[in-house]
Amino acid sequence: MYQYERKLKKENAVTLTLPQGFAFKDHDVFVFDNLLSFFRWDLHDQQVKIDLSECTAANYQAVALLIPYIWHLVSKNCHVSVIESEDGEGASSMWRMIGGRGAIPVLKSKTQKLKGSDLKPTIAVRDGDDFKEVIQTSEEFTKGFNIEYEKTLRYILSELLYNTMEHGYAHYNHKGHDCQFPSLAQFTYYKGRNELQFIIADLGIGIKKHIEQAYPGQESDEAAIKLAIRPQVSGTFASTDPYKDKNNAGVGLFISSNIIRRLNASMHIVSGNGLLHVSPRDITGKTLNNRWPGTFVLVTISLGSDPTLQLHNLMQEFRTAAYSEQRKAELKEEDNRFYLNIKNEFGSFAEYKPAAIRCRDNKIFPAANSHKEIVIDFDGVSSAPHSFLSALLASPIKTLGMSAYKRMKFVNTPPEIRETIDFILDENTE
Ligand SMILES: Nc1ncnc2c1ncn2[C@@H]1O[C@H](COP(=O)(O)OP(=O)(O)OP(=O)(O)O)[C@@H](O)[C@H]1O
Ligand SMILES: [Mg+2]
Repeated sequence: MYQYERKLKKENAVTLTLPQGFAFKDHDVFVFDNLLSFFRWDLHDQQVKIDLSECTAANYQAVALLIPYIWHLVSKNCHVSVIESEDGEGASSMWRMIGGRGAIPVLKSKTQKLKGSDLKPTIAVRDGDDFKEVIQTSEEFTKGFNIEYEKTLRYILSELLYNTMEHGYAHYNHKGHDCQFPSLAQFTYYKGRNELQFIIADLGIGIKKHIEQAYPGQESDEAAIKLAIRPQVSGTFASTDPYKDKNNAGVGLFISSNIIRRLNASMHIVSGNGLLHVSPRDITGKTLNNRWPGTFVLVTISLGSDPTLQLHNLMQEFRTAAYSEQRKAELKEEDNRFYLNIKNEFGSFAEYKPAAIRCRDNKIFPAANSHKEIVIDFDGVSSAPHSFLSALLASPIKTLGMSAYKRMKFVNTPPEIRETIDFILDENTE
């Protein structure tokens, strides 16, 4: 049986060849889409060869993403092997330096570590001990620099590591056992630029899914990441037992991103197909064509550029901002939103017209009349026929007129339902 399975896998073998350039940047332009297009997330029960031999220009953090990718493939019952070039230039030598050869043993045994070079620390993060190891490693890099750098870096790293351990963990089934994927941390110091770059990556549920526990109906991954960096926004609020202490204030990413903006630093957050770039100049979002199934955060910090920086003062400033009166007003504004989850309201077959009419009269019309934004979420809905959708939406759309396009948002909509809704919108706003 086992042999038969192996034979089948062999027959289905696929080779993924790392392109000549495999990095986040190409000629100073960020190319996340190119990089992410390498990964194929649909493979399972196959032999997969990852060929590094043609890649001569790579980046350590980019190559490090191959480690969680291989973990993913193994969890999908793939047999994975990595082809390295003989002379060991480019990605092949980086792969060895970061201890990539130990990727599979690390996944299979909790006591294994990635055995890379001390110069390119790469750590599989599962628990508090690994957490401490990452923090200690970062301190090695900031030795000899202003003590404020050490504290600042420690702060940002802790927040990102807490996030990956608290919100980004992911399970998979291995031969009937429930196993957990580690997260990954990789550091590289670029001497010429006096710059430290690191990545924290996970294969978890992603920011959108997590934050939707408290803020349902996010339009996109990009929107969810933008929401996550706002102060006092946490995906944990809804699931937290009200009698327990609140363990998350929702300020980790807010304060971290503000520190990044004050330092000579930049941060990229990728989750699903959303990308957010935080830099001293601005914060910009983008929706990519390709996706990473969990979350990763890439941080670049120039060391030693601002000796006047004082973490303590910065923190005080950002904390005050996070809890300011203005923030309270903003939160109130967020209440100005009516959210309807179709599956919760009608089940995954949303077909019963009298229920639609009741919901329209008791919920949607009052929301429209009180000038709320109306968000309708079709997550998990398998079918919603035209007559049902029309009963639910046509008259509210007619009442709102053209502003319906702005005031009503339809999220997680399967294509055929989206088409019907567009038709109803067209028909009722002429
Ligand atoms: N790695 C991740 N995976 C999934 N969701 C994440 C991840 N990182 C952040 N998030 C989402 O973004 C939200 C905001 O993160 P943030 O660190 O600002 O707050 P928090 O972790 O909830 O609270 P605090 O950091 O104050 O303890 C999280 O609550 C979670 O919903
Ligand atoms: Mg946090």
